[in-house]
Amino acid sequence: MRHFLDTTDLTVKEIDELIALATDIIANKKKYAHVCSGKKLATLFFEPSTRTRLSFEAAMLELGGSVIGFSEANSSSASKGESVGDTVKMVSCYADIIAMRHPLEGAPRVASYKSDVPVINAGDGGHSHPTQTLTDLLTIYREKGRFNNLTIGLCGDLKFGRTVHSLIKAMCRYSDIKFVLISPKELSVPDYIKTDYLDERGMGYIETEKIENVMPQLDILYMTRIQRERFFSEDEYLKHKDAFILDTDKLKTAKSDLTIMHPLPRVNEITTDVDDDPRAKYFEQALNGKYIRMALIITLLNWAGGLSDED
Ligand code: CP
Repeated sequence: MRHFLDTTDLTVKEIDELIALATDIIANKKKYAHVCSGKKLATLFFEPSTRTRLSFEAAMLELGGSVIGFSEANSSSASKGESVGDTVKMVSCYADIIAMRHPLEGAPRVASYKSDVPVINAGDGGHSHPTQTLTDLLTIYREKGRFNNLTIGLCGDLKFGRTVHSLIKAMCRYSDIKFVLISPKELSVPDYIKTDYLDERGMGYIETEKIENVMPQLDILYMTRIQRERFFSEDEYLKHKDAFILDTDKLKTAKSDLTIMHPLPRVNEITTDVDDDPRAKYFEQALNGKYIRMALIITLLNWAGGLSDED
């Protein structure tokens, strides 16, 4: 049984195949309209979500399958004290594939030990968000046509921003990638990401607190929000909440083919007038999330032997 819990659970070749499948789905939507007929996706969301949960659900519906699940812990028996393991053991009796978001790091992995069907990590605490990374990779591929020879600026809350952690792990596997890490010192990338990925792979990176200093170098600017829900105190959050605000003025020195990305939700870190800049791709990015999740559902169900030729 193969689950998808971390970006590196997929080889580079398998990611290429997923991107190719998503690209084919985009071009030939009707061909895939019944691929998951008779199959059920369970979305177990113990933490709030708009894009991830709804794009997973839209993905399964557009593949001809159906969806069950819950969108908050309080509407499940977790509120009565049921463990993640027991919940997933039960749900894997009712569904063919599970997407789980949980505030605790590692919860989807624990779930995978108890599940009889593939489990997908839809975000675990401040740790990782691998399907967002697949979304980001599809966006980079569609915008740049390559995964190498890129200078990628990651800006905002790089400490708690799980999408950044997963994206660094993924991009470390390509050549000629330079990371520009833009954050307040207190919100810099965790040490394990630096030692186990950036240093271990000999990746070039610089750290700065000033986005203006590095803007002209960037091929991709990946903005993130300050993750209010992960701070230990409101005062700490308030100290950093306006650390970076991208506006049209700051973009004046950027490359004409810069790609501006954001996993969303946005709070105030990108002003809304930037939305009209043709380099802003964050809403396309959210749409790409549906297509890559369609590709992931098909792939994991195929690996589990759940999609026959007749399906
Ligand atoms: N990008 C993302 O994970 O958004 P949601 O929290 O709305 O799912």
